[in-house]
Amino acid sequence: MAKIGWLLLLLSVSVTVLEVGALNSPFKPRDVLPLLPRQVSWPILNRLYSAVDLLPVFVGAASSPDDNLEWKGACFYDNKAWMVFHNDSATQFGGGTLHIKVSKAHSWTCMDLYIFATPYRVTWDYYFLAREHTLEIKAWEGKAEYEYVKNHGLSIFLLHAGMLGTLQALWEVFPLFTNTGWGENSNINFLEKHMGASFEARPQPWVTNVSADDIHSGDFLAVSKIRGRWGAFETLEKWVSGAYAGHTAVCLRDSNGKLWVGESGHENEKGEDIIAIIPWEEWWDFELHKDDSNPHIALLPLHPDMRARFNETAAWEYALSMAGKPYGYHNMIFSWIDTLNGNYPPPLDANVVACVMTIWSQIQPEYAANMWNEALNKRLETK
Ligand SMILES: *[C@@H]1O[C@H](CO)[C@@H](O)[C@H](O)[C@H]1NC(C)=O
Ligand SMILES: *[C@@H]1O[C@H](CO)[C@@H](O)[C@H](O)[C@H]1NC(C)=O
Ligand SMILES: *[C@@H]1O[C@H](CO)[C@@H](O)[C@H](O)[C@H]1NC(C)=O
Repeated sequence: MAKIGWLLLLLSVSVTVLEVGALNSPFKPRDVLPLLPRQVSWPILNRLYSAVDLLPVFVGAASSPDDNLEWKGACFYDNKAWMVFHNDSATQFGGGTLHIKVSKAHSWTCMDLYIFATPYRVTWDYYFLAREHTLEIKAWEGKAEYEYVKNHGLSIFLLHAGMLGTLQALWEVFPLFTNTGWGENSNINFLEKHMGASFEARPQPWVTNVSADDIHSGDFLAVSKIRGRWGAFETLEKWVSGAYAGHTAVCLRDSNGKLWVGESGHENEKGEDIIAIIPWEEWWDFELHKDDSNPHIALLPLHPDMRARFNETAAWEYALSMAGKPYGYHNMIFSWIDTLNGNYPPPLDANVVACVMTIWSQIQPEYAANMWNEALNKRLETK
C-alpha cells in the first residue's frame, strides 16, 4: 500500500510539473501507469485516453527474414520485426525466432506492451530498453501452425502500457482458445478455479458401449466440450451462465424405428454451422473419432412418465421446421451480454472481452465475424 501511495504522490507531482510547462521533462505520468495496480491505473487511463485507444492495435505479421515490417509504438517510435525459422529443437516442423528491434523511446520511463499470436498460441512481452529483442518459439505445435505462420505470419499487436492488468486477465482467457493439450488443461483449470467444477478421470474404457436400441425419442444428450474453439466458447458460456454443459442435442426415432440426433452447430459442406438432424450412427461416430473438442457426453434418458407424454409427431414437426437454419450465433453473445453492466464475472470485463475479440477478429476472422456480425445485424435489424 505504501508503495502505491508513493507512486500516486509521484504521479500528482509530475502532473503538476507538466502543467507548469516542463516540456522536456524525461518523466511522463502515463509512463508509470503500468506500474500501478489495475484498480488505480484504470480510472486514470480512462481519463487520459478514449476507450478505442485502449484496444490492441494490429501492427503486422512477421513470416520471414525479409519482412519489412515497421511501425510507430506508443513508447518507441521506430520498430521493426522479422521472423527467422529454425530447427533448434530438431522436431518435425522446427521452430522460429521473432526479432523485434525497438528504438527512439520518447522517454526513459516508458515501455511498449506486445501480444504475439497465432491460432495455436498467444504470448506477450513488454520492452523498456531500446535494442533488439527476440521471442523464441522452440517448436511449432504442428504442421497447421507451421503453415499458418509461413503463410500468414505471427501476428503482432501493440497494447497500451497501462493495459498490463488487462493483459494479465487475458492471460487466463486466451489459452482456452488454442486447440492444444495446453488449451484443454487451461479450460479444465479455468472451470475448476472459477466454477468450482471438479474433473475426475474415469476408469477405462472411456467410451460406453451404448446400443441404439436402448435410446428413445426425447432422450437428451448433454455435451461438454473442453478443447479448441468450441471448448473455449463453451468454457466461457458455462461460466457466465452457471451451466455445466455447453451444448445439448436430442434423440428422435422416426416411424421406421431409425434413430436420429437433432442438434445445432453441425457444419455443412459450405462450412456453415447449421441446425441438422443426423443419423445416430453418424453422430456417434463423429463424437467417437472426429470431434477434436474432446467432448464429455452424458446420455440422459427421459423419465418414463415424461416419455409417455412426449409427443413424437410434434417433436418431428418442430425439428424439421428448424433443420438447415443457422446455428444461432446471432443469439449466442446476447445470452451473456444482457445487462448494461455486470455481464462478466471477474477477471473478465468489457475491456478484456473487447481485447479478445479484436485479436481474434484478426487471427480467425470467420469465427469472430459470425459471433459479432450476426448478433449486431440481428439487433440492429440490418440483415
Ligand atoms: C528438423 O530436424 C529433424 C531431425 O534432424 C528432422 O527430422 C526434421 O525434418 C527437421 N525439420 C525441419 C523443418 O527442417
Ligand atoms: C458392444 O455391444 C455389442 C452389442 O450389444 C456387442 O456385440 C459388442 O461385442 C460390444 N463391444 C464391446 C467392446 O463390449
Ligand atoms: C401430438 O402433436 C400433433 C401435431 O402437433 C397433434 O396433432 C396431436 O394432437 C398431438 N397429440 C397429443 C396426444 O397431444
